[in-house]
This record gives sequence, C-alpha cells and structure tokens, in this order.
Amino acid sequence: MDWGMQNRISRIIPRETGRAVMLAVDHGYFQGPTTGLERPGETVAPLLPYADSLMLTRGVLRQCVDATNRIPIVLRVTGGTSILSELSNEDLTVSMEDAVRLNVSAVAISIFVGSVNERQTLVNLAKLVDEGEKVGMPVLAVTAVGREMTRDARYLGLCCRIAAELGARIVKTYYCDDFEEVVNGCPVPVVIAGGKKIDERAALELADNAISRGAVGVDMGRNIFQSANPVGMIRAVKQVVQDRKSPTEAFCLL
Ligand code: 5RP
Repeated sequence: MDWGMQNRISRIIPRETGRAVMLAVDHGYFQGPTTGLERPGETVAPLLPYADSLMLTRGVLRQCVDATNRIPIVLRVTGGTSILSELSNEDLTVSMEDAVRLNVSAVAISIFVGSVNERQTLVNLAKLVDEGEKVGMPVLAVTAVGREMTRDARYLGLCCRIAAELGARIVKTYYCDDFEEVVNGCPVPVVIAGGKKIDERAALELADNAISRGAVGVDMGRNIFQSANPVGMIRAVKQVVQDRKSPTEAFCLL
C-alpha cells in the first residue's frame, strides 16, 4: 500500500488501538435538517475533541467546520436523491479533485445491493476506487439497506464482501446477529453505523458487541447527536471502543 493511502487510513483508524470512533453527521444529504443536526456546526463543535474522524458532506464541511480544525474528514461523495424519491438512485456528487482540495482522509459512497439500482451504485464504487487509488484516497463503502431488505448476516455479509472485492478500503455496515460471519467474510476493516436512536445503554452495548465480534469501530450519528447528553454519549462510546471499558462502566459516565 502506498504511503499516502496508508497515512490516510491511519488517520481514520489510529494505529495505537487499531480502532475508530467516527462521528457521522452526513444525514442531511437525503434527509434535510435531521433532528439534532439543524445547525450542524453547533452540534458538532463540542463533540470533535472525542471523535477520531468526522463523516459529512462537502457543503456542511465548508460552511460549518473551521478549516483550522485537525479532525480527519470522511467526505460523503454520493447523493442526488431525497427521502421523497428512490434512495438507491445515487450517483457520485463530488469529484476526487475537490476531495483532495478539501484535504480529506477518505471518501464515502453508499452501495445498494439488491435494489433496482444495485449495478449503478456498484459501478460507481468501482469508478470511485479507480479515482481514489490514483491519489492515495481510501474509499469507505456504506452498505445501505432498503426498507424491504433483511439486516441479517447473509445479506450484510454479501454486501460487505462485494464492497471489499470492488476495492473499498473500509466498509461500513449494520450490526446483526452472527456479526462475526460478516467480518470473517470481509477482508478489509468493518465499522458499524449506529442506526436509529435507541436508549444510551443499548447503543453502548451495540458498540461493544460489534467490537467484540470483529468490527474495528463505529461510525455513529443519531445515537450520539440525538442523545440528551451528546458529549457524555460520545465520551462513553469512546470508552467502550477505544478503552474497551464495559458498557456498564461507560454508561456510568453519563
Ligand atoms: C447514511 C449514513 C449515515 O452516516 C449512517 O447511517 C450513520 O449514522 P447513524 O449512526 O445515525 O445510523 O451513512 O447512509
């Protein structure tokens, strides 16, 4: 692996622990002003000291995050749909040139395996990987799940493996029963999304289970920024993921 690629991946997954707490705030790209993210800059600022990286869109990065900030950025580069349309009909929305200009550490793309737009999103991934490899930019593939799809190890394992085969350097997916099967079938690091807001204790257990079963980290959004205590929650998530404290110990922090 070339130096630039390796360096960028190590900003996302710090080598001290080999684990990552990523803060996802890219929801607005298809959901609009998501609860808790109405003013993304204000939401994110107090959380940044506890996140290893920040996942967001180009517009929010430029307008809401101070350019002197040193937090590694994972830039979402797909979109073109909204909650009012067919979500899987995504395309690439940011050039690799602009991603490099913004000095990001990785680019993120969703793939919709099993959807009507499966082929389009997988070919987009392959093209993005081609562009990324030219400049040492890792691609993180998000295995998006349509409403009609079951989030089980068979389906998520299929999605993760395809993402890795097409060249994704990191894969983001959902936690499920038998999660170790998903990780075992995926030759690149796997992180999990948090999903819909659940109670804090359950979200910490989700993070702990994912790490215990082979995930390298979490890329969590709503369970942090929609918590009544977002700073306490990200600190607790960090204790579970990075310090390997138990969910009970971390929950006490809240
Ligand atoms: C949307 C995404 C989000 O970043 C992802 O869902 C993480 O956020 P949450 O923890 O709220 O699920 O990739 O496609």
